[in-house]
Amino acid sequence: MNSESIEELKARIAASGAKKLQDVEEFRVGMLGKKGEITRLFEEFRTVAPEQKREFGQKLNQLKQQAQAKIEELREAVEEEQTATTVDNDLTRPGDDFELGSRHPISLAREEIIGIFRKFGYNVAEGPEIEDDWHVFSALNFPPEHPARDMQDTFFIATDTDDKILLRTHTSSVQVRTMERMKTPPIRVICPGRVFRNEAISARAHCIFHQVEGLYIDRNVTFADLRQAILLFCREMFGPDVRIRMRPSYFPFTEPSSEVDVSCNICHGKGCNICKGTGWLEILGCGMVDPNVLSASGIDPDVYTGFAFGMGIERIAMLKWQVKDLRMYFENDVRFLKEFQTVV
Ligand code: DAH
Repeated sequence: MNSESIEELKARIAASGAKKLQDVEEFRVGMLGKKGEITRLFEEFRTVAPEQKREFGQKLNQLKQQAQAKIEELREAVEEEQTATTVDNDLTRPGDDFELGSRHPISLAREEIIGIFRKFGYNVAEGPEIEDDWHVFSALNFPPEHPARDMQDTFFIATDTDDKILLRTHTSSVQVRTMERMKTPPIRVICPGRVFRNEAISARAHCIFHQVEGLYIDRNVTFADLRQAILLFCREMFGPDVRIRMRPSYFPFTEPSSEVDVSCNICHGKGCNICKGTGWLEILGCGMVDPNVLSASGIDPDVYTGFAFGMGIERIAMLKWQVKDLRMYFENDVRFLKEFQTVV
């Protein structure tokens, strides 16, 4: 035994490679098997002079460890290579998963509302989000001193003229635009869109939200027609067993006016914390279009009557899917959005 032969063996171990597991096995047998080179050196070790035993002993042990580590390394490399090739060649392997997106709950609710009213013969109308005072307030019979015209409630856009330009606070402005455009009834439209109010953001309020406005004008339209349209809508939206109740209310643009509640779909009228123990949930405002509103848009109130209604999409969606906090709609938390993957 001499140092050179050990060094030479070390270099050979370091340089060796393997393509298949069989090569690794051959390498192992060649080094550490019964007749392997390292095994032979261990046998020779017995004949080494006592003063050299320490030096050669250490070297031999290192050599053995190096060979064992190399065997492990080669085996792993070969196995990895083999899995890679089998997987690549396996044509029956399923394709890569790709994540499906989901529609936003506000879009889902809006489409559902539109779909229901389309079946009733309504068309969709849209109008601008940046509006003037006429379409949002004056033509809708808001008196000049009405608080909604205040900066506290409405976002005004600074201009260098006297015309008031503002972000619409409700989609009722689209009623006015539709009447101005169509002039002769029958008019039957729903107007979905974004609205803006100067409000602090909380679980129940936001400065941007969505509404759907409805308008039906023709000869002989009555409050009974309004009630029937709302009832049919609610049955489609919340299920056939839903009940509605109409409470007298006030809006400048309708007379008489009403707010509509639906029976609570959680406790079915028994009273729970969502309906605050009343069994009812408010969902929209409505009424018979005020004759002043018809005249302002050039429709003769002696010939035609009509009804209008307006609802918040966030609110409808909250009731339908029991969303507890309005801010969830705007945060885009994927865990929340994914819950709606199965809705359509
Ligand atoms: N514009 C009202 C709002 O934003 C909602 C509304 C109530 C619309 C009654 C209507 C209506 O058309 O008749 O609160």
